Amino acid sequence: NIDVCLSPELIHQYELKGKIVVVVDILRATSCMVSGLATGVAAIKPLADVDICKGLKQEGYFTAGERNGSKVEGFDMGNSPFEYMEPHLKGQKVAVTTTNGTLAIEKSKTADQIVIGAFLNLTAVAKYIQQQDKDVVVVCAAWKGKVNLEDSLFAGALVERLAASHQPECDVPRMMVKLYQIEKNDLFTFVKESSHARRLNKLDVFKDIEFCVQEDTFDIVPVLRDGHLVLAG
Ligand code: MLT
Repeated sequence: NIDVCLSPELIHQYELKGKIVVVVDILRATSCMVSGLATGVAAIKPLADVDICKGLKQEGYFTAGERNGSKVEGFDMGNSPFEYMEPHLKGQKVAVTTTNGTLAIEKSKTADQIVIGAFLNLTAVAKYIQQQDKDVVVVCAAWKGKVNLEDSLFAGALVERLAASHQPECDVPRMMVKLYQIEKNDLFTFVKESSHARRLNKLDVFKDIEFCVQEDTFDIVPVLRDGHLVLAG
């Protein structure tokens, strides 16, 4: 079976034990994680707390901090996928905290496995799940508890890709598939009208949005192991 949790605020309604949770934050946390690990970052440590994250600089991590769409003072990086693909990060570890994405990971910790999903690695995530005989919950990071467009669209895309192996658990997966099917030929036009796209556009990150709605740029699957996101396999 597959289910979709549209906001971390609703997560208590879902049983995650024994299941694969796919955490998604298209704009931009999980798109960043996928981009970084696909282009040579060795490991990414997601943290909900700003100070703990900042402190990891002392342990040799590059630090990435975002709140309300902007880079947090004192961090090496903000939350753009292009920053994660910089050549100087190859072989390095990144510690990251973001408004919603890293919190969604934190709240999913009772799951059997945590997988990081984005449009950028959509097919790779679907294939990874198909190799296992486990139920799936897609956890959308949303925005401060409010349901958003881009994460919901991704949920629909993944449910559609898994139609042959995973039956929708409640009505949300079916609803999201319909939404994705209506919009899938031009995700950018739809997502650029989303509340977070407008929020980020004020911060001049339009090219991030264009990048994050691309499907299957990378053939990798990040999974959480011992507190770090690393490549599955
Ligand atoms: C988050 O985790 O809240 C987002 O990735 C925000 C952002 O776009 O930087």
